[in-house]
Amino acid sequence: MADARHVISLRDLDDSDLARLVRRAGEIAVDPDAASRQAPLRGRVIGVYFTKTSTRTRTSFTTGALRLGADVITYGPGDLQLNTGESLGDTARVLGGMLDGLVIRTAGDPGEMRLLAEHCPAVVNAMSADEHPTQALADLATLRSRFGRLDGLRLLYAGEGNNTAAALALALPRFPGTEIEFRTPRGYGLAPEVLAEAQALAGRYGSRAVERHDMESLPTAVDVVYTTRWNTTGTSKADPLWRRDFEPFQVNAGVMARCPGALFMHDLPAHRGEEVTAEVLDGPASIAFEQARFKLHSAMAVLEWCLAR
Ligand code: CP
Repeated sequence: MADARHVISLRDLDDSDLARLVRRAGEIAVDPDAASRQAPLRGRVIGVYFTKTSTRTRTSFTTGALRLGADVITYGPGDLQLNTGESLGDTARVLGGMLDGLVIRTAGDPGEMRLLAEHCPAVVNAMSADEHPTQALADLATLRSRFGRLDGLRLLYAGEGNNTAAALALALPRFPGTEIEFRTPRGYGLAPEVLAEAQALAGRYGSRAVERHDMESLPTAVDVVYTTRWNTTGTSKADPLWRRDFEPFQVNAGVMARCPGALFMHDLPAHRGEEVTAEVLDGPASIAFEQARFKLHSAMAVLEWCLAR
């Protein structure tokens, strides 16, 4: 398929593509059956290859591909001959000759996905060590559905500057007038190049992106408080005392009270009592499970965008 497209990084999407994907996810959320009825991926075969655990992303891309009419082959971490020493390049050439698309989660070098994309028609990053682009698409679609817009929204992010944070940093500042404030433990912040890129985007679009390493003087005019779990999937921390650094960043009733009227988002999975209290995650301000449902709608939008013509 010469005209298939990849989503390996949000950097691959221009502004109109980003806005279109978010809008389309919202349309699918309103009428998921309409997208299914058209079955735009009938006759296509999608590979879903996850080397790391997943509940939401793997299910959303598998279900989404099936609902769009595709057939799906799933590969777990022990299934491909990569495990017995076949090279990634040879794997890419073989899979690219048989599959129409490949949705992949790996904790490895982001260059792996670029190599696969040299041979596979449509490669979707379902989370890599550096970025979780389809999470940000689901997050933005959730926000747009809730607020009716993205322009001007103000988001406070508390927790690790991980791949979810990086994706938000690369996406939200592209919507004019938005504000994103990262509060990350020192030593666990955004990669400096991601923060610099977010700030360059903010300058271009009249937005604001900042990072601090404390929970003092939180902004009070906030639309959403966002956190992620402290042990990002596929990672561990070298310092045995790392929890000491993260505890001040827990989102609890006290933090929510400092941001009156704010909604709460979490990419899940959650560990109640660590990054968020049960009172907040299961409370009236939380839209975390609505956000999880948007992973299906946004996965369908991504698959359509990559493959449907
Ligand atoms: N948020 C997210 O990516 O969830 P999974 O790890 O369950 O896919």
